[in-house]
Amino acid sequence: MINKIGVIGGGNIGGVVVSEIVSRGLARNVGLVDVKPPEFAKGKCLDIAEATPVMGRDVNIEGSKTYEVIEGADFIINTAGVPRAVRPDGTFPSREELLSINLKITDQVAAGIKKYAPDAFVISIANPLDAIVYRLFKKLKFKPNKIMGMAGVLDSARYKYFVARAANVSVENVEAVVLGGHGDTMVPIRSACRVYGLPVEQFVSKTQLAKIEDRTRKAGGEVVGLLGSGSAFVSPAVSALEMVEAIAFDKRKIVPVAACLQGEYGVKDLFVGVPAILGKNGVEEIIKIKLTPEERAAFKNSINAVKKTCAAVDKAK
Ligand code: LAC
Repeated sequence: MINKIGVIGGGNIGGVVVSEIVSRGLARNVGLVDVKPPEFAKGKCLDIAEATPVMGRDVNIEGSKTYEVIEGADFIINTAGVPRAVRPDGTFPSREELLSINLKITDQVAAGIKKYAPDAFVISIANPLDAIVYRLFKKLKFKPNKIMGMAGVLDSARYKYFVARAANVSVENVEAVVLGGHGDTMVPIRSACRVYGLPVEQFVSKTQLAKIEDRTRKAGGEVVGLLGSGSAFVSPAVSALEMVEAIAFDKRKIVPVAACLQGEYGVKDLFVGVPAILGKNGVEEIIKIKLTPEERAAFKNSINAVKKTCAAVDKAK
């Protein structure tokens, strides 16, 4: 069992993260930070704490507007930021359009982690994903193995779900991976998609697959459009916890992670979604995937999109 998990941001994703930690009995202590008045984090934690006798879990859950509640955490899950929402005209912003507002929040998050949980593994979910985790990395100066973004687990889960529905088989039979940035340029890797170990084309037509891949790229926006306010929250929350469990239980599980690349895939010091082994040291190894020429071009395009957003981060001092 993990001693302590700190969760930053008690909105929809943070709330599910905390309640899932409790229902899985994943950690003995949870600290939740949310600046929202009057005492939003305390309220969220009290609600979940009062459910513990029903869940049969002994977890100390503490909420606060300030960061001392994450002191000594082994893991930090960062969800702090404004999510996407539908505008009055029915359109909604891209994740990148959240950058300036969410950067300010991220700098406070970094200061809090630095002060109270300097040894934690950091898993960031806030958007624009690749840019926010990059900013945290620059501010925290943690080793690249200790800080990562959660995007690929979610994007791949969406790809798997759509393929499973189209093939009319269990979601457990589908292996699929989405790489690159967590924006509309993300790259579903069809050449690595398998149903029961067999090439996906045996189950789903190429035309259908092209539609599924397009839907996968835009899947976050699809949920935003349907919800009206806010973005997906259950799927991102459980995806981040899959990463926590892989590290905490030293599973050496290969999952797509927004990892700080050190020359792999021709990228240095940028966070890009790639398959990585997660174990007790966090990101232990980046796995190389052989891509088709089309996938390679799409991946390069996605890296360029990440570079562009991170250049904007560098300018925003
Ligand atoms: C999504 C948001 C959380 O993809 O980025 O749903």
